[in-house]
Amino acid sequence: MNSFLQATNRILRIGLLAAVILTMSGRFAVSADKEAAPQIDPTTGMIIDDDWMIVMGMCSVCHSPKLFTEYGATRETWASLIEWMQKTQGLWQFDPATKDKILTYLAKNYPPGEASRRRNIPVSMRPPNPYVSAAKAEYEAKLKQGEIVAPQ
Ligand code: HEC
Repeated sequence: MNSFLQATNRILRIGLLAAVILTMSGRFAVSADKEAAPQIDPTTGMIIDDDWMIVMGMCSVCHSPKLFTEYGATRETWASLIEWMQKTQGLWQFDPATKDKILTYLAKNYPPGEASRRRNIPVSMRPPNPYVSAAKAEYEAKLKQGEIVAPQ
């Protein structure tokens, strides 16, 4: 009888231990999932994180946010990409605090890594975009000759 009780006791303990382990591993699995799957804003497709609305406001005026949500880069490369847009694509200047927030968000949420397409050619190696400048030249020439009127 005594050994029967001991055996039952042991089985109960093992069962309890197993239950505790299962519960805890479940908990870990849930928290790992949470880290692996960031919240995505359904409208923009952007990862919701600190200052994401600043980035949305500054970076989705001229093109779809997809251009940067499908891009991955280090903070330095993000900075040089922004500089490239400021020099050649009409992007305005940011005050240092705003620039820091944008770069922190981008580098944290869109780091270099498994991208869905090949790595981009480094900014320093890109030729100027001939289509943008040719179209602009044509537009300005027509404007000068009065063939078209600038939009009000
Ligand atoms: C004033 C307009 C404008 C704003 C605002 C702007 N961009 Fe761009 N961006 C462009 C243009 C123009 C291109 C070139 C698009 C193309 O080649 O089709 C571009 C291209 C890009 C690309 C693709 C580069 C590549 O090599 O394919 C990324 C990434 C990008 N922008 C990110 C951003 C981020 C991040 C911000 C906010 C800091 C931003 N853009 C704000 C005009 C802008």
